[in-house]
Amino acid sequence: MRLLGEAEDKIVQLHTAPLQNAQGDLVGAVLVLHEVTELRRLETVRQDFVANVSHELKTPITAIRGLIDTIVEDGQMPNETRTRFLGKIQDQAMRLSLLVTDLLTLARLESADGLLTAEPLDMRESVRGSLSQFTASAEEQGIELVRDLPNTPVRIVGEHEALELVVNNLLDNALKYTPKGGRVWVRLDTDERSAILEVEDTGIGIAREHHTRIFERFYRVDKARSRELGGTGLGLAIVKHVCRTLGGSISVESEEGRGSTFRVVFPL
Ligand SMILES: Nc1ncnc2c1ncn2[C@@H]1O[C@H](COP(=O)(O)OP(=O)(O)O)[C@@H](O)[C@H]1O
Ligand SMILES: [Mg+2]
Repeated sequence: MRLLGEAEDKIVQLHTAPLQNAQGDLVGAVLVLHEVTELRRLETVRQDFVANVSHELKTPITAIRGLIDTIVEDGQMPNETRTRFLGKIQDQAMRLSLLVTDLLTLARLESADGLLTAEPLDMRESVRGSLSQFTASAEEQGIELVRDLPNTPVRIVGEHEALELVVNNLLDNALKYTPKGGRVWVRLDTDERSAILEVEDTGIGIAREHHTRIFERFYRVDKARSRELGGTGLGLAIVKHVCRTLGGSISVESEEGRGSTFRVVFPL
């Protein structure tokens, strides 16, 4: 039964049974109501996720099959055309690989035994580890990567690998969505209670209406652009998951055309 509500409808499952006394006379009825709104919502989320994954996998697979069929059928294909086709197959295979890697990461984060290890660590090390992976590509893209880390350890409880994943994804986005000549800042700082990590860029920015949705799985402001840049649409979902699991939070400040700042806060 759907109960129409002001803000949202509720879905209620009803069970009824006649109630008899010892003589078998009908004396009433029992009615049990179960609110199953959340359960139904989760079912829909799961179905949507499966549909999205299938669709995301299907696109590169279809492209690869088409390209291979053409190569196989055309015995006379000039070498340079074939090389170009093989390059496209390589790109699509790479996309599949990135997608599966991100899906496995999400699956690991969500499984019960995939619990993140929680050990005391210096968050600067995770940030440095991530920065070292992006220094070369920032230079290649003509983007200035500015780092600002404190001189004293930033002690939090967490898992290096997971924290690096957070910084990697934020940095990857910042570099991906910032045109040549731009700048990206990575700042780590503390106040009395928290470690605060900021990744700021001078890139294309994000219009307000997308701010909450970009953390959803597969949500992208511009699908074609994200795909072209090798995006899977899962990066920020992974980031949000790790932040929540480690007791932290993530927020974004951004305006279209004016760059973005992603801020991650963990308890010290
Ligand atoms: N730094 C940024 N600047 C502009 N847009 C961003 C930035 N970071 C994320 N986005 C937007 O959020 C979407 C989701 O990000 P993410 O989950 O990492 O997926 P993707 O694989 O597309 O990078 C991106 O497709 C993009 O539209
Ligand atoms: Mg990303």
